[in-house]
Amino acid sequence: MRYSSLEAITLAALAGLSSTQELSSTIVGCADVHCPNPEDSTDNVCTLVDRTFSDIGLVRIPTDIEELSWVQGNSITDDEGERRIASSFYLGTPFELDTGDTRACAAFFHESTARFPGGDVDTAQGTCEQAGVDVACIDALVARARALRIEEGEDACEKLQEDFLGNLDRECRGLAGTDRWESVRVRPIFGTGGPDVILSSDNLTSNCWPIEPKEHDLAFIESHEVTTRNITAARTNDLFYDVTPILTVFYGAENGLVANFSSQMTCLKVVNSSVTLERILEEQREEEEGAAAAIHISGAMAAITGVVTVFSLLLLAGTFLVGRSRRDRTSYVAVPGLPVLERRRRNALGSWSAMARSAVWWLGDEVTFLGRNWGQQGELVFGSLWAVWLLSLCVIGTGNDYLHLTKRFGIVAVSQLPIQYVLALKKFNPVALIFRSSHEGVNRWHRVLGRVIYCLICLHAAFYLNYYYQMGILRRRIVDIVPALGLTAFIGMVLLNTTALSLIRRYSYRIFFVTHLMVALALPPVVFFHYRSSAFYVVEALAFFIVDLALRKMDTFTTDASLVLIPGSNLIKIVAPVPPQKISRFRESPGTHVYLSIPAPSRPSPSAVSATNYIFEFMFNPFSIASVDEHSTDLTLIARCRDGPMTQNLARLANDSTAGMKVPLSIEGPYGCAARFPNLVGPEFDQILLVAGGVGASFVLPIYRSLLGENPGAGVTMIWVVRSASDATWPASDASQSILKDDKVQLYLTGDILESTSGTGTLSDGATELEMTHLSQRRPEYSPDRNCGRPDLRKIVDDVFKHGVEERVAVMVCGPEGMGHELRRYVGTWVRKGRKVWWHNESFSW
Ligand SMILES: Cc1cc2nc3c(=O)[nH]c(=O)nc-3n(C[C@H](O)[C@H](O)[C@H](O)COP(=O)(O)OP(=O)(O)OC[C@H]3O[C@@H](n4cnc5c(N)ncnc54)[C@H](O)[C@@H]3O)c2cc1C
Ligand SMILES: NC(=O)c1ccc[n+]([C@@H]2O[C@H](COP(=O)([O-])OP(=O)(O)OC[C@H]3O[C@@H](n4cnc5c(N)ncnc54)[C@H](OP(=O)(O)O)[C@@H]3O)[C@@H](O)[C@H]2O)c1
Repeated sequence: MRYSSLEAITLAALAGLSSTQELSSTIVGCADVHCPNPEDSTDNVCTLVDRTFSDIGLVRIPTDIEELSWVQGNSITDDEGERRIASSFYLGTPFELDTGDTRACAAFFHESTARFPGGDVDTAQGTCEQAGVDVACIDALVARARALRIEEGEDACEKLQEDFLGNLDRECRGLAGTDRWESVRVRPIFGTGGPDVILSSDNLTSNCWPIEPKEHDLAFIESHEVTTRNITAARTNDLFYDVTPILTVFYGAENGLVANFSSQMTCLKVVNSSVTLERILEEQREEEEGAAAAIHISGAMAAITGVVTVFSLLLLAGTFLVGRSRRDRTSYVAVPGLPVLERRRRNALGSWSAMARSAVWWLGDEVTFLGRNWGQQGELVFGSLWAVWLLSLCVIGTGNDYLHLTKRFGIVAVSQLPIQYVLALKKFNPVALIFRSSHEGVNRWHRVLGRVIYCLICLHAAFYLNYYYQMGILRRRIVDIVPALGLTAFIGMVLLNTTALSLIRRYSYRIFFVTHLMVALALPPVVFFHYRSSAFYVVEALAFFIVDLALRKMDTFTTDASLVLIPGSNLIKIVAPVPPQKISRFRESPGTHVYLSIPAPSRPSPSAVSATNYIFEFMFNPFSIASVDEHSTDLTLIARCRDGPMTQNLARLANDSTAGMKVPLSIEGPYGCAARFPNLVGPEFDQILLVAGGVGASFVLPIYRSLLGENPGAGVTMIWVVRSASDATWPASDASQSILKDDKVQLYLTGDILESTSGTGTLSDGATELEMTHLSQRRPEYSPDRNCGRPDLRKIVDDVFKHGVEERVAVMVCGPEGMGHELRRYVGTWVRKGRKVWWHNESFSW
């Protein structure tokens, strides 16, 4: 057996192509054999090894031994007033056909009178009978071949040629057109002197393989040239589209393809395919534009992007107006009273909306499987639905055409690029704006769509590579420019997706970041040169990306910051002045964050070209804005020192700087969805629960302060869990804002109090020292016996919700992953009971 079972299955799947074993007519041309391949050739010439043909012809040999074909390629050249038409003949055989002891010859009756009826010699085709070859002549030729006596050591084909040239049977005078055969050539095709098939290594420069099915081998057999000085179109056409009768003769052999003598006469000519080829190209274009709904999707994507942009601008205006109205707290808002709310809850609409809230909550739950977080249920549900939709677009209308389906996977994947790039934007992300989310929120969908695109690209690459392999043209095709670019894009996608795995990301965020950036920039041009019709989508994607990068660069400022290590902890307090023209943006939205980077003067190596410096070009780490000074333009960040290069360098800078010394740092922002949070102290909410873990308070505390600043009577409860007392000292800089004097803040210390306050070394300022003393002595009034150890989050949640059945509750958390999950579980119990909850978990746990 020549094929493994996998190959056999695949070849069966290639039915769309293999079915071309049934040719659309007796003789077919370039268009039907997809030669040259319209995908990677811009002209209609077909180059096979070292010969280039303007047209080709393919005919099956009517034998049931094996599927054998004759292929003819013609070229035309002019030289000093003489026109030369060269014909090359190839035998097409099944892949690696085992011919055993078979001996076979092919007799070419060049320059015969065989012609197809009708005026269009270029497109005419048919059988020998239709070409006017007399059956009696065929019989006479076959009889002569059968009667040939071959002695030991004699060349059968040579002897047959001598026989034909020396004897013109009466029945064949019409076909010869003269009284003797002028140009008969008999060539061996199997057995002694038989040709070798063309190897793919010989065929590296070719742009076509003029045979169907494509896995068939080709062997060069014969060439013939005619010249003329009559270079009129009519004469040229006559010669170029001349019909050549070919008698294929098999001499029987015990271990051969045939046991007994057999022969077949076939008439071959090249067929003008330009008309058909144009039609096929046109159909292909239409199909790719029309039927490939993916293209529509891309169009729709483009349209959506446009609509999204317009919508975003409207929304911006809306947000601005809402912001203004929010500031105007005196305006009247009609809020339903408790009896009304109770009535609403009890009617049918109320139960439906409770169910809807419960469903939405379920969609937001995280899926953990095999110890790994797979994202939220909503991401899996909508991601799967989108994947199914895209896969159906890949399949619709492709029938059993393997190559069509293969291309669709690629086209549909490319159509997703613009929206995929939009979802990754940081500075101006229309999707985030519309859904009142942030870059981090929208980025979840970027990751979901990324996985879908990756699957489609994998299918596209796998189907193509498999096709090339099955056809035996893998080595030849992957060095051709178009497939090579496709392979490059595929490898880029594999790198991008592999480095995004949490294992690699946690090992080195830089490997992930640099690979992501490089591939994101290189992918659009590579895809464009691989598939030119993608121009619109890749340009759109790249444009979004570059504009966003430019906007971010423009918005980044470098400022002289002071860095101080907080005694007894591994926290660093960074105080950085903001340019006055930007400060209002930072003041407006508590709970936002900035991206911090280390500019050249603050890097460890003084040399600008040092390799260690380059890593800083790819370091932009997010830190929440812990506070913005009311009087100056200073903003404060609190950074927990970890193992990575950013926080390690911040610690180095803090250690190296003496009191009062400033170091340049670059800041970009503010970012985050806090700017689009609902008005939590407005009448829509009755209770607000804020939970912070460790340095998570840098996000929660500014929100807490802002809420109480707007409405001191708001029902706010804040829980702050810290490992050591020193972790909670940083808000102490402003004694008037001390959280220790605040009854609404419940502080929990999970480490050893004594240990955490002893051995703290030199305290940097008096306020901090005072705060630490307070902390070690304090017993929160809320729960005096539980200030040590983790808080009972279930009880805290239940207490907040038990306030009143109709009360609407806002819950916000920022801290370790487990804390967020635990809190969500307890709040979820109340959501399923029908309670109205607004939930936000500020985390970065992917
Ligand atoms: C919105 C947000 C706000 C944060 N606020 C604070 C804060 O106020 N105080 C604090 O101590 N920590 C905060 N963090 C966590 C902080 O960003 C990381 O602890 C810090 O960047 C680690 O830096 P590194 O040099 O130690 O390690 P790195 O190797 O540089 O990064 C380690 C991890 O930090 C995160 N990270 C780094 N760069 C980026 C980036 N460009 N975008 C998204 N995530 C990134 C990734 O999870 C990464 O795996 C915040 C994180 C987020 C997402
Ligand atoms: N905007 C943002 O997204 C943002 C901003 C700032 C920080 N962060 C993130 O916040 C996290 C906190 O960092 P950190 O290093 O300061 O934290 P940490 O010191 O490791 O932990 C803080 C405290 O939370 C407690 N805790 C942990 N899990 C808990 C749970 N399930 N229930 C109750 N208490 C729990 C810990 O108790 P134990 O001692 O018992 O463990 C500890 O006291 C980090 O992941 C950081 O990246 C995010």
